[in-house]
Amino acid sequence: MQATWLLAYLTLGFAAAETGLDGWLRYATLPCSTQCRSQLPVNIIALNSTEASPVYVAGSEIQIALNNIYNVNASIALNQCNSSSSVIVGTIEQYRQTCGSTVGIPELDEDGFWLSTRGSKIQILGQNERGALYGAFEYLSMLARGNFSQVAYSTNPSAPLRWVNQWDNMDGSIERGYGGESIFFKNGAIVDDLTRVRQYARLLASVRINTVVVNNVNANATLLTPQNIDGLGRIADVFRPYGVKIGISLNFATPETLGGLDAYDPLNATVVKWWSNMTDQIYQRVPDMAGYLVKADSEGEPGPQVYNRTLAEGANLFARAIKPHGGIVMFRAFVYNQLNESNWEADRAKAAVNFFKPLDGKFDDNVVVQIKYGPIHFQVREPTSPLFANLFKTNIAIELEVTQEYLGQQSHLVYLPPLWKTVLDFDLRVDHKPSLVRDIVTGKRFNRTLGGSAAVVNVGTNNTWLGSHLSMSNLYAYGRLAWDPTADAQGILQDWIQLTFGLDRAVLDTITNMSMQSWPAYESYSGNLGIQTLTDILYTHYGPNPASQDNNGWGQWTRAGPKSIGMDRTIQNGTGYTGQYPEEIASKYENIQSTPDDLLLWFHHVNYTHRLHSGKTVIQHFYDAHYSGAELAQGFLDQWESLRGKIDDERYAHIRHRLDYQTGHSIVWRDAINNFYYNLSRISDTAGRVGHHPWRIEAEDMKLNGYDTYTVSPFETGSGSVAIVTLSNDTVGTATTTLDFPSGTYDLAINYYDLYGGQSNWQVYLNDKKVGQWVGDAEHHLSHTPSIYLDGHSATRIKFRGVKISKGDTLKIVGTPDGDEPAPVDYISVLPEGVVD
Ligand code: GCU
Repeated sequence: MQATWLLAYLTLGFAAAETGLDGWLRYATLPCSTQCRSQLPVNIIALNSTEASPVYVAGSEIQIALNNIYNVNASIALNQCNSSSSVIVGTIEQYRQTCGSTVGIPELDEDGFWLSTRGSKIQILGQNERGALYGAFEYLSMLARGNFSQVAYSTNPSAPLRWVNQWDNMDGSIERGYGGESIFFKNGAIVDDLTRVRQYARLLASVRINTVVVNNVNANATLLTPQNIDGLGRIADVFRPYGVKIGISLNFATPETLGGLDAYDPLNATVVKWWSNMTDQIYQRVPDMAGYLVKADSEGEPGPQVYNRTLAEGANLFARAIKPHGGIVMFRAFVYNQLNESNWEADRAKAAVNFFKPLDGKFDDNVVVQIKYGPIHFQVREPTSPLFANLFKTNIAIELEVTQEYLGQQSHLVYLPPLWKTVLDFDLRVDHKPSLVRDIVTGKRFNRTLGGSAAVVNVGTNNTWLGSHLSMSNLYAYGRLAWDPTADAQGILQDWIQLTFGLDRAVLDTITNMSMQSWPAYESYSGNLGIQTLTDILYTHYGPNPASQDNNGWGQWTRAGPKSIGMDRTIQNGTGYTGQYPEEIASKYENIQSTPDDLLLWFHHVNYTHRLHSGKTVIQHFYDAHYSGAELAQGFLDQWESLRGKIDDERYAHIRHRLDYQTGHSIVWRDAINNFYYNLSRISDTAGRVGHHPWRIEAEDMKLNGYDTYTVSPFETGSGSVAIVTLSNDTVGTATTTLDFPSGTYDLAINYYDLYGGQSNWQVYLNDKKVGQWVGDAEHHLSHTPSIYLDGHSATRIKFRGVKISKGDTLKIVGTPDGDEPAPVDYISVLPEGVVD
C-alpha cells in the first residue's frame, strides 16, 4: 500500500514538501507544450528602474514566475518599448511616455489596471504603480493556472479602502492569534528581521489589499515612542514596494499615558496640539501612512466619553491632525456598554445605532466609521448591522474577520465568504429602494467617495501564516471580495485551490466541496437559528458553553429557559431592535411569520416546541442540525483522504491532522449543545439519539486504578458529566473494562482532554497488546486557544481504525500525567463501520 502510494507520488513528479509560506503564490511547475511556449513572453519590460518601485517589483515577480512555472529565462529590460515577444508592465502614464499611444485603453480608477494578452506584446498597465503590480499578479495567476486565454480588459476596485487590521501586540503576542507570534513586534519593539513582513506584503499585494494596520485596536501607547516610530518607518519601507501602506491603531489616552499631559480630552487645546505634533513626527518617518484606526470608549478602552465629548469629537481630533498629511481615520463603531439581562428591553445589538445615528453628518470628511458585519461580534450568523442603513452623511466601511475567533480558531475548516455574502448581498431597502450592503459600503448607494472594507487578520510567524493551510482561502477571498464584492464565493475559492494545490480535477472538486460545506456544517454543530455561536464567551471563544452567554453584562444573551429561548427584539414586545432597520426589513423581522428560520431566535423568543417554517420544532431542529453538522464534518476527513498522493506530503499530513481533530471536536460540540438543551427543556429527541450512546463506555464506569472520577464543568462537555483524572501529578492511572460487543472490526475512539500545561501520555491495550498511544500536546500542533480545564475547549477525540475486537476482550487505558495535565479520559466508543457515536 505504502509502496504503491510512493510510486504514484514519484510518477506525478511532486515538488519537495511545501511549508505553505508562499501561500497561493507558489508558482509550481506546470508542463508546457510547444504551443504553450509560443505564448510565453521571453522579454520583460518594466517601465520603472527604481528597485523599490511596485513596477520594478512586478517585473521581477514576472521573471521569477516564468522561470518557476515554465522554466523560461526571461530577461528584464527597463524603460524601453521595442522588444517583441514581451510583457510590458508600468503605469498608463509611463507607457504613454515611453511607447506613445494608449488608444483603446479605457480610463482607469485609482489602483485599477488594464491587462491585454492579445498579440505578441502583453500589456499590464496600471492607473498607478500599485495597479500595475496588481495587473502583474493577475497575469501570473492566469499563468499559474495554465490559463492562456487571449484577454483584454480593465478592472477597477469597488472602493478605495481595502484594509487589513492586524491585532498584534507590542510584546509579540496577537489578540485572537492562532498562527504564532507577531511578525511585526517583539518585547515592546519592532523586530529587526522583517523578512516575513516582506513576504506578507507580497501576499497582500497579490490580492490587492492596499493598507495594513499593524497593531492591535486595543492599542498600546508605547507604539509612539521615537524608537518605535522609527520601527514603523522600517515596516512601511518594506511594504512600500508592494504598494501596501501602513496604518496604526491609536490609544486615545496616549497624550496622558505617554505624553505626560494631565488629560486626553479631545477638545483640550494642549491635547489637540499634542496629537498634531505627534502626527507630524510619524509622517516625517512614514510620509505615506494611510491613516489611524481608533477603538474608543469600547471594552474598557479610553475615549472621548470620559470627558463627555461625543464619539465624533473624538474621531475628528485625529482627523484634523492627519488631514494635512492626506491621511484618514477609521473609527470603529464597536461601542457598547455592559447591560442588565433582567431588563427585557436591554439589547447590546442596538448600541451602535444608538451611539452613531445621532452623529451622522458630524464626522469630518476624512473619517470613516468602520462597522462590523453584524451588530454583536463576528458570530456564526448574525443579521446585517442596521447601522449600514442609518448613516447617510458619513463615510463607512464594513469590518469582516478572517481571524476565525468564534468560528473554530483555524483548528476547524470554515470557509467564510458564504457567511460574509449573507451581509454584503443583503438588501436593506433604505427608502424602499435597492440598498445592498455592498453598494452602501463602497459608497455607491449614498454617493460617498470614501468607503470599502477592513478585515481582522491574524497572520503570525507560523509557516502556514494562519496556523492552517486551509484558512488561507479566507485571506485570499477577502482581498478578492474587497476588490469586487459581487464576485462569487465558490469561484474565488476555486482560483485559490488551483493556485495553492495545483490543477488536479479531483483536488479542485474535493476541496471545493469540503470548503463550501464547512460554514453550514460549523453552524449546524455550533449555534443554530440565529442563537449565536454558543461558544464560551467568558473564556477562550472556542469550544461549546451555551450557559456563558447569559447572566452576565456582555449582552450576548440567548434567554434560554426551561420552556423557551431566544431574544425578543421586536418593537411590539421586545427590545425594539427591529425598529432600527428601514421599514420593509423591520416589518419582515418584526413578524415571526416572515422571519427566516435561520434568524428566528435572534429576533423572537419562542417555546422549544415552536414550529419552524421547515415544519420541525425548534428543539428538534437543534438536535437534528447538530447530528447532521457533525456528520458533514466526518465527511471532510474522508474527502481529504481521497486526495492522498495528489497533495505534497507535508501539507497533506498537516491538513489531515486538523480535519481528523475537527471530526472529533464536532462530536464534542454536537453532544454538548444537545445535552445542554435536553437538560434544560427535558424534551426528548424524537430520533432517540440525544443522551443515548449504545457504543460508548464511560471512563468512570471502568475499573480504575490510580485514576479517580472528576465532575466536568460545564457539565455538558463531559459525557455523563464525569471524566477520570489521575490521583496525582505523578501517579500513573489505569482504567480497565471488558468489551461486550459482538466480535468484529471496529474503530476505537477515545475522548480525552488535552490541557495546556502538560503533555500526558496515554496508551491503550487490548488483552495486554498495545493498540495505540498518543500524547496530549495539541497546544503545539493545533491553532486554537488552549484551556487549562477539562471543558469543551480541551475535549478531544482520537481514533484508532480497524481494530479487531472479540467479545469479552479486556481493554485497558494507561494514562501517565505530565505537568498540570492529569491524563484525563472521558469515554471510549467502539464503533462499527459507518457509526458515529
Ligand atoms: C471582541 C474580541 C476582542 C476584540 C474586540 C474588538 O470583543 O473578542 O478581542 O478586541 O472584539 O473588536 O475590538
